[in-house]
Amino acid sequence: MTKKRILVVDDEHLIRWSLTQMLVDDGYIVESAENGGEALAKFKEFQPHMMLLDICLPDANGMDLLQQFKGENQDLVVIMITAHSHADSAVKALKLGAEDYVGKPFNLEDVLHSVKQAFEKCHLRDENAYYRQVLRKKFESDNLVGSCPKMIEVFKMIKVVADADDKTVLITGASGTGKELVARAIHLHSSHANEPFIEVNCAAIPETLLENELFGHERGAYTDASQKQKGIFEMAKGGTVFLDELGDMPLGMQAKILKVIENKRYRRLGGENDMITDARIITATNQDLPELVKQGKFRADLFYRINAMTIFLPLLSERKMDIPHLVNYFVDQFNHEYGRNVEEVDAQTMSLLMNYDWPGNVRELSNTIERAMMLEEGRILSSDHLIGEITGCREKASTTESPVAEEGAGADDCFSLGNFKLPKDGISMEEVEKELIKMSLNRWSGNQTKAAECLRMSRDTLRYRMKKYGLVDADGKR
Ligand SMILES: Nc1ncnc2c1ncn2[C@@H]1O[C@H](COP(=O)(O)OP(=O)(O)OP(=O)(O)O)[C@@H](O)[C@H]1O
Ligand SMILES: [Mg+2]
Repeated sequence: MTKKRILVVDDEHLIRWSLTQMLVDDGYIVESAENGGEALAKFKEFQPHMMLLDICLPDANGMDLLQQFKGENQDLVVIMITAHSHADSAVKALKLGAEDYVGKPFNLEDVLHSVKQAFEKCHLRDENAYYRQVLRKKFESDNLVGSCPKMIEVFKMIKVVADADDKTVLITGASGTGKELVARAIHLHSSHANEPFIEVNCAAIPETLLENELFGHERGAYTDASQKQKGIFEMAKGGTVFLDELGDMPLGMQAKILKVIENKRYRRLGGENDMITDARIITATNQDLPELVKQGKFRADLFYRINAMTIFLPLLSERKMDIPHLVNYFVDQFNHEYGRNVEEVDAQTMSLLMNYDWPGNVRELSNTIERAMMLEEGRILSSDHLIGEITGCREKASTTESPVAEEGAGADDCFSLGNFKLPKDGISMEEVEKELIKMSLNRWSGNQTKAAECLRMSRDTLRYRMKKYGLVDADGKR
């Protein structure tokens, strides 16, 4: 777990010294301040998780400071210290957001107990804790299926990387090979596991919004910024920030991310001070980063920085021996999800699944099994509901690699293009385009790069048109 930072604020030297010693011995990172002015400066620079704050300071009232600090950082845990253990100031401090209250003279053991309890309570209170538990269960069980040598290497690397606490990781591999799953596995096996895992798709967010999303902004940073807003690095606390599709990150942002990786510092939009982050960064891309570096689209220094710890995920076609295990895993999963009772997969179906090349990798396999199970009424999964590409039977295909129809006008005087029909009285080209884009995306299991290539258009053009035809949701995802 990330070491917590504690700021001790008291004007008595002996108290500062003894509290500092005790907390350092217990594994905390501690700094101290002897008055309000110094406390304010250290609050900004040191960014503590907790403050032990004396109520009576020579230049300030601890209660005022409490309000000010909590206003700046709601997550700050404050324990008040006072010479007068008056019940009314205790109640007031708690009302103003202090977590606890200790009266002088105090026993050091009691303070330590109070510090631990306060951290514990805050952690449990965190509304995400419950959801994290649920997610954790989902991902904790051996949900990364694979026993081929390449996947064994991947599992070993996950362990190494999870233990190498603060190193930035790069996960590469084609679309659908399991990069996100691996990122989550690293998080869950690391010391950051009890904190949030937050994913950012760098390709889905326009450059101007990305910085705001990652770093947050101060009030008044731009015209619409009427409130201060936390960024993802702040929300992740000591957890993990997963920067997905890093290859699509604009160059300007790359420089800022490099600074976060190197110094753990960043600045909110419109902010005057650097913020410190305890979050770990995991990155992933399906692009060829060395090639992007050559083309000047990706910073060489950032590449070398993240490339030190790389996990490369194999194509599914390179690990066909894992297919039966994956198929059975997905059958179990969808039995559970859809209340089905499929008991086995017939031998012919399994052999078709083994012989197919899976351009969309594990995602395509998962989608295939899901669809077949939705349509299967019996207890044995047959090949009846597999698409033409897999059965090798073209006319069954609902999608096609070639957008040109293979047959001429059909019985209904329609021109058939996959699921698409050209009605007698015509249709707008926009409808045709929309349908082709949908077909291509399905054909490539949502991989926009491949879908765009297939339609001989750039990825940006594809994205623009997906938006235009309402093929993306608010997150920019399909
Ligand atoms: N080894 C695996 N075991 C079980 N399921 C897997 C495995 N690898 C991938 N999957 C499943 O396949 C799907 C795609 O995985 P994931 O989203 O991690 O791929 P990705 O590499 O991030 O793809 P993209 O580049 O398109 O974002 C998910 O449903 C995931 O659960
Ligand atoms: Mg992904």
